[in-house]
Amino acid sequence: MKIYRAKDYEDMSRKAANVISAQILMKPDCVLGLATGSTPIGTYRQLRQRYEAGDLDFSSVKTANLDEYKGLPGTNDQSYFYFMHHNLFDHVNIRPEHTNIPNGMEPDAEKECARYEAVIADLGGVDLQLLGLGHNGHIGFNEPDAAFARYTHCVDLTESTIEANKRFFAKAEDVPRQAYTMGIGTIMKARKILLIVSGADKAQILRDSLYGPVTPAVPASVLQLHGDVTVVADEAALSLIPE
Ligand code: F6R
Repeated sequence: MKIYRAKDYEDMSRKAANVISAQILMKPDCVLGLATGSTPIGTYRQLRQRYEAGDLDFSSVKTANLDEYKGLPGTNDQSYFYFMHHNLFDHVNIRPEHTNIPNGMEPDAEKECARYEAVIADLGGVDLQLLGLGHNGHIGFNEPDAAFARYTHCVDLTESTIEANKRFFAKAEDVPRQAYTMGIGTIMKARKILLIVSGADKAQILRDSLYGPVTPAVPASVLQLHGDVTVVADEAALSLIPE
């Protein structure tokens, strides 16, 4: 595991964009696994700027997002479909047909999860999976549990995740209660993983994830078992991890 120490959020975003840019330059038709949330917004801004500067070409890049709320249409500004278009896809030369996100409007969970696993398999798997870290150690929407989920599945969101996400909705009741997410097994199949973390409020969970016991009670701890993980985190997030 490589850990890159960034000064602050901006520096983290630049360093994370460096890793993603390197992946695209080395393999222009790579498959990127993408995340949403507040952490990657700066990274996507950096990628947009590099595209605008003529340094990055997304024309052959393919993407598969980690997760999507169940029941939110892509037109809803809180859907991850909307987020990805707003923060990245609409600003670079990626082909819409090369982007993949679980379909939150498919009510049949079994059908949608099987479809999404097949999509990832058809892409040949993910080359580089970008991950953020939840306050309870979740990755994607894989919440603390008794076992690691293998495949894309439908989850009931925990109260802590609903609480963390409600800042994005007008009312707590508007926060969806379920989501589709890649499983831990799906994530672990990615050839490389890039975990980005920012802020003192993530310091304890980052330390537990990287150095605590590997347990489904801290889903991100499973990353200790992956052979190619890069962590880019700022000083605040790394404050409980000695240099
Ligand atoms: C989003 C996702 C989530 C977030 C996590 C951290 O696609 O998969 O696991 O990465 O909730 O969210 P932020 O970055 O908002 O702290």
